[in-house]
Amino acid sequence: MQHRTPLIAGNWKMYKTSSEAMETAAQLIKRVADADTIDIMIAPPYTALESVAAVIKDSCVSLGAQDLFWETEGAYTGQISAEMLVAAGCRYVIIGHSERRQYFGETDETVNKKIKAALRVDLKPVVCVGETEAEREAGQTFSVLDKQVRMGLDKYFIDDLTSLVIAYEPVWAIGTGKTATEEQAQEAHQYIRSLVEELYGNTLSDSIRILYGGSVKPENITGLMARPDIDGALVGGASLDAESFSKIVKFR
Ligand code: PGA
Repeated sequence: MQHRTPLIAGNWKMYKTSSEAMETAAQLIKRVADADTIDIMIAPPYTALESVAAVIKDSCVSLGAQDLFWETEGAYTGQISAEMLVAAGCRYVIIGHSERRQYFGETDETVNKKIKAALRVDLKPVVCVGETEAEREAGQTFSVLDKQVRMGLDKYFIDDLTSLVIAYEPVWAIGTGKTATEEQAQEAHQYIRSLVEELYGNTLSDSIRILYGGSVKPENITGLMARPDIDGALVGGASLDAESFSKIVKFR
């Protein structure tokens, strides 16, 4: 199982000005300098991307963005392209976060287009999927994941998806302090991995990283990471503070 390099990713959402983000990034790189065989990514707001890129240059921390638009350029007020993210220093981009689905009309179709835009410029997509509380209670968790993964990854070739990361984030666990149990998370991850196998074969399903997200903290990361299909975490609240995020990074 450990052949997949873990990825611990921080989603800073709409927190931190450019200078605040630089400060946190500077503290973080000091604390994680000795973390080995692990990939680390932080996704500050767009306005802090370039300044944070300068701070983390030459460190083991990579830069990610929280979203992108699929066109290269054009009259799309307020949007940011994949090319712009690469120019700002990004290597990853989060796509289809549940907050974007909930508040900004993101759908599986737009997720699908955004993945293509990211791959066009070698940005690693971190594609978020997950059920709401009502869907879990109605016994629809697997059917929701099925639809989100199938439609999000529709019409790709295996070779396109080698850099893809999937993040399983049950909506009811995001920012609520309610983490999925290790069993619930493992079960969902295993389901997603078997679906990737069905769609793209076992070379991809064996190598693809599936992150867990939803109230990940220093206290619960170790147990989650011990599960065979959990390859890392997408962390919101606890990534805003360099100390707590570095503890998550050093979960071992
Ligand atoms: P949280 O957010 O860690 O604050 O629950 C996770 C996420 O939204 O990616």
